[in-house]
Amino acid sequence: MERIALVTGGTRGLGLAISLALREEGCRVAATYHRDEVAARQVAEQTGIAVFRWDVADAAACREGAAQVAERLGPVDILVNNAGITADAMFHKMDEEQWWRVMRTNLGSMFNVTRQVIEGMRERRFGRIINISSINGRKGQVGQTNYAAAKAGILGFTKALALENAARNITVNAVAPGYCDTAMVSVVRPDVLQAIVAGIPVGRLGTPADIGRMVVFLAREDAGFITGATFDVNGGQYLA
Ligand code: CAA
Repeated sequence: MERIALVTGGTRGLGLAISLALREEGCRVAATYHRDEVAARQVAEQTGIAVFRWDVADAAACREGAAQVAERLGPVDILVNNAGITADAMFHKMDEEQWWRVMRTNLGSMFNVTRQVIEGMRERRFGRIINISSINGRKGQVGQTNYAAAKAGILGFTKALALENAARNITVNAVAPGYCDTAMVSVVRPDVLQAIVAGIPVGRLGTPADIGRMVVFLAREDAGFITGATFDVNGGQYLA
């Protein structure tokens, strides 16, 4: 059966790999983006993935956007809460704006987007919700108090939502990627990144496709016994 999947931040980086992997699996995919119109247009033209522009930190925009997705594609069966940002700084140098921008985008979006689809999933008694956390929400990272707090918050959200919806055949899981070859990681200072890569036992950065495969596994119909769990995909860098 053809499922409808919504991937936030689904036109670049990990999100794009997730969108493509779900499409490959036979889903009809809607991908949201916020700023990079050019990348989004390219994805739409080259892959046929439906793209929608809205800010996941904005609750009203999520309401309107999700309604548009439902109108164009149908009710969402699979939600991947992937959109996220960094605003790295040592905590003693971090300002309020950096703190809240990351909290609103990375954690506030869990409410803003998931709230739009959960009632439909409950009514239809099927849903797959996959939240993208991070290795740094598991272990902490210098310069990322805001990001680590938001990404750790996602894990609590995932567990509570999983319990509430388990009896309705809705699974809720988190994936915690390690350092992958994306634009987000490429802005880390080269000397800092070099030291990080040296600490990855498999000896390389992850690829976006590594994460896409994990998400597809959790999105499948036959993954219904897996819920409330966190999956580390980090090349052995952190073993929880
Ligand atoms: N452990 C302990 N102390 C550390 C440290 C570490 N890993 N790294 C740096 N420090 C110390 C430094 O030695 C320094 O101490 P002193 O002042 O006593 O010398 C102090 O922390 C300040 O470090 P910096 O000079 O690096 O501070 P800065 O203000 O120039 O830079 C920063 C701050 C840009 C945030 C930098 O620390 C940094 O780049 N950190 C890594 C951030 C990171 O990994 N981001 C990941 C982005 S990608 C992503 O988030 C995706 C994902 O999910 C994985």
